Amino acid sequence: MRILVTGGRGQLGRALQNALADHETFALGHEELDVTDPVAVRTVFEDVEPDLVVHAAAWTDTGGCEADPQRALAVNAEGARWVAEACRSAGAAMLYVSTNEVFDGEKREPYAEDDRPGPLNAYARSKLEGERAVQAVLDRCYVVRTAWLYGAGRASFPEKIVQAARESGTLKLVTDEIASPTWTNDLARAIARLIREPAPGVYHLTNAGYCSRLDWAKRILELAGMADVPVEPTTQAEFGAPFRKPVFSALANRSAARLGIELRPWEEALADYFAGAAAGLGGQAKRRKGN
Ligand SMILES: NC(=O)c1ccc[n+]([C@@H]2O[C@H](COP(=O)([O-])OP(=O)(O)OC[C@H]3O[C@@H](n4cnc5c(N)ncnc54)[C@H](OP(=O)(O)O)[C@@H]3O)[C@@H](O)[C@H]2O)c1
Repeated sequence: MRILVTGGRGQLGRALQNALADHETFALGHEELDVTDPVAVRTVFEDVEPDLVVHAAAWTDTGGCEADPQRALAVNAEGARWVAEACRSAGAAMLYVSTNEVFDGEKREPYAEDDRPGPLNAYARSKLEGERAVQAVLDRCYVVRTAWLYGAGRASFPEKIVQAARESGTLKLVTDEIASPTWTNDLARAIARLIREPAPGVYHLTNAGYCSRLDWAKRILELAGMADVPVEPTTQAEFGAPFRKPVFSALANRSAARLGIELRPWEEALADYFAGAAAGLGGQAKRRKGN
């Protein structure tokens, strides 16, 4: 297949370049394709002629989205719609990457694909609007909700925790935000499996199991050989961020499991990521030639 990846320089975009190496993959970064520009989107479609688009581009800065919800909608919802419309014209399928944060976090067991969304912040509202936009335009559309991504490409949570521990010698993390840390390499491989199935629909794909931010940070410190760094519990309210996150937003990966697609426990994936980093790979996978 000819596959176009939007947001190709982001952390998931980079992992997808490896996972989709069996295909003719064109991973375009923000500067090569701005999805808020419909003319640019159409031009890229004429050049690439994709059979499938994996739409990983998004404005993922939750604080930024809260401060500028119009821009959040322009990138995350309207940008997705321009891509979906181009897919419809080209007869291409689309896979839209979405988030655990579409849920309100009131449930106390993992959310199923058909549970009712209830986003709490502007980023999550814009991502849910994106889901709805692409589903309204396309029949052949996969919506893949995931959570707490980390991987090569930018400093994500593990790197930030290690750096903060080095700098301050002590950390404070919330206990009232619970989800599933997910390595981009594992998610990208699952996406590569999923697109082989002619079964569009909504899928939840995260590493298995879940934990609080605090527990995730503690596991990171253990793997980094910094288990002696004290980690104090706090709450979202005490922390005082200008947005709310769902308290419990683990996802039940039911639809993918029915297709035989299951991700390993988050602890195993995180340990492998750190093993790669220790071996000097930084969890990095080789980039495709020409990208
Ligand atoms: N990170 C998470 O924890 C998480 C959790 C659940 C779901 N997701 C979803 O997973 C997907 C991939 O996320 P990620 O973690 O890989 O994020 P990321 O590293 O921030 O990558 C997103 C990429 O999209 C690009 N982008 C931003 N605005 C764009 C635009 N107007 N046109 C084209 N590209 C644009 C960004 O480029 P610039 O940086 O140059 O602007 C960035 O390279 C997103 O859809 C996100 O909503 C992420």
